[in-house]
Amino acid sequence: MANLFIRKSIAALKAEAATSGEHGLKRTLSALNLTTLGIGAIIGAGIFSLTGSAAASNGGPAIALSFVLGGIACAFAGLCYAEMASTVPIAGSAYTYSYATMGEFIAWIIGWDLILEYALGAVTVSISWSGYVVSFLEKNLGLHLPAAYTTAPYAFTPGVGWSATGSVINVPAMLIIFLISALLVIGIEESARVNAVIVVIKVAIVITFIVAGIGFVATSNWVTPANPTGAFIPPNTGEFGLFGWSGILRGAGVVFFAYIGFDAVSTAAQEARNPQKDMPKGILGSLVICTVLYVLVAFVLTGIVPYNKLAVPDPIAVGIDALGFTWLSPLVKLGAIAGLSSVILVMLLGQTRIFFAMSKDGLLPDTVAKIHPRFRTPYVTTIITGVVVMIAAGLLPIGLVGELVSIGTLFAFAIVCVGVLVLRITQPNIERPFKAPAVYFVTIAGAAFSVFLMSGLPWDTWKRLFIWMALGLVIYFVYGIRHSRISQKAHEVLAD
Ligand code: ALA
Repeated sequence: MANLFIRKSIAALKAEAATSGEHGLKRTLSALNLTTLGIGAIIGAGIFSLTGSAAASNGGPAIALSFVLGGIACAFAGLCYAEMASTVPIAGSAYTYSYATMGEFIAWIIGWDLILEYALGAVTVSISWSGYVVSFLEKNLGLHLPAAYTTAPYAFTPGVGWSATGSVINVPAMLIIFLISALLVIGIEESARVNAVIVVIKVAIVITFIVAGIGFVATSNWVTPANPTGAFIPPNTGEFGLFGWSGILRGAGVVFFAYIGFDAVSTAAQEARNPQKDMPKGILGSLVICTVLYVLVAFVLTGIVPYNKLAVPDPIAVGIDALGFTWLSPLVKLGAIAGLSSVILVMLLGQTRIFFAMSKDGLLPDTVAKIHPRFRTPYVTTIITGVVVMIAAGLLPIGLVGELVSIGTLFAFAIVCVGVLVLRITQPNIERPFKAPAVYFVTIAGAAFSVFLMSGLPWDTWKRLFIWMALGLVIYFVYGIRHSRISQKAHEVLAD
């Protein structure tokens, strides 16, 4: 009888991590590289697209407070991820960490769940990328692309269901997934370098926006028909989530997407030069920088454009136009396009490294972990992931996938927070180069906050999460449980 709760030994994992550089993935990433990787994953569709609609529908100018709330929630999870990644510095970290703390079954659940975050995260951002490219070509270059080939063929309306949009396929979204997958096959070092350049561009765009706009912030922009007094927190309309304090909360749920990605740093632990010290620096550093930038962008944006005019796909460009710097608008769009590309890169990188780790453990077929003889990258999993993500990017609507990414990520955060506490209790003496402070408070608050935000998401999204997880269980019981390397080893020991 297989043991569902069989665990990996932390000591064996540390030894594996210490020697893996000699035989498999290269250890090339420094603390700065990791922070850059984090910012590359974080700043993307959330700030470049969702800020506007969340301000227009949920928070008004107070969307800046939603970003503060989202940042606090992620800080708890970030501290747990930092402890986790410094303790078990190995590829596919959240998954591997669960393997060591809560056993194989929970590890499979989290590994399967992380597909929602990384693979579907790449899908979501590629659809947003497509929107920015179409807007740039049309508004700035006068090139019209037919909507039939730039949007999804299906839409989903809550309470109504699926409907055909008349479109055929989203070609630009597929194209960017193809290009980035090809880059990842060539190599992590090259990918990290491209990523660093893009991060500099997008941080420059965000800072330029803040600096250009901050002097023009006027509270008169907070005055709208729905907010005649111009209060910073517009009055609630009578429905939960539409302005007022509940709007700030709902807004925090929506803009949570903007923070997703700092945890992706943990998936590159096996490629870090000095994971124990640099993992926490990379994770927390990128999170703090992004929180400060987000709050400022939200404050400036709603201070220069009335919030009810922000329900557009490119709110930052609208903000720049409102300042009268129209020449800057195409640059902002190009920066956003580059910035979104780096988010997709880190998401796909994270996904392939998780599959790599799962395959090494026997939970997925061996071929998945094949390393390219020349590039030394897990090329088989990169190609398979690229093809599947490309198809999804071509067919699915952004709202639906975005919500699934959020629920899947929050679920993973909750498990990781619990796992950190479990390991502190069950193995108090193992070496932890970084320890989360006030561990009982931070882990429980992190898990509770994640579940709280999940509870705000619609029932349809919950159903999809259940279906996805049920599919994962079938695959585990049909394949993984029989091929698990660690279970097989345990059997051999017993047979001896
Ligand atoms: N945080 C990432 C984004 O905003 C996923 O695009």
